[in-house]
Amino acid sequence: MAIRQLRKHDDEILRKRCKEVKKFDEKLGILLDDMYDTMTKAEGVGLAAPQVGIIKRAVVIDIGEGRIELINPEIIESSGSQNGSEGCLSFPGIFGEVERPMNVKVKAQDRHGNEFELEGTELLARAICHECDHLDGHVFTEKVTKYIEQQQDR
Ligand code: CO
Repeated sequence: MAIRQLRKHDDEILRKRCKEVKKFDEKLGILLDDMYDTMTKAEGVGLAAPQVGIIKRAVVIDIGEGRIELINPEIIESSGSQNGSEGCLSFPGIFGEVERPMNVKVKAQDRHGNEFELEGTELLARAICHECDHLDGHVFTEKVTKYIEQQQDR
């Protein structure tokens, strides 16, 4: 287990289009394990490889229902819409309202290269969209319609 350093704010690595994963080797497994540990320690529900400085199309998600790994994910269907608060481990303390589809279907590969499809609704749909955006160099602040004031602890 290793915690990797999170890339934040205006780090240019967060604006790059990530490369397709072609090698499903031990190194990829280590990256995914490290990403999961880094995300969990930071109390996030999703993390994309560029957030730890790796320009590859790999994502981990855990919204509290178990670990999901998406390699080379592609959203193939989306429907409905939802408005809600969103944050990002690369923008600590910043939350804003972002509109996302209510339902998505994503096609991806697992860490061994096997293709699968996954459907997500509500928070899972939001997380899938947010993380897939990272792989194209997009961050959620581009889509915020309204920033949410944080309650200060007194
Ligand atoms: Co993010």
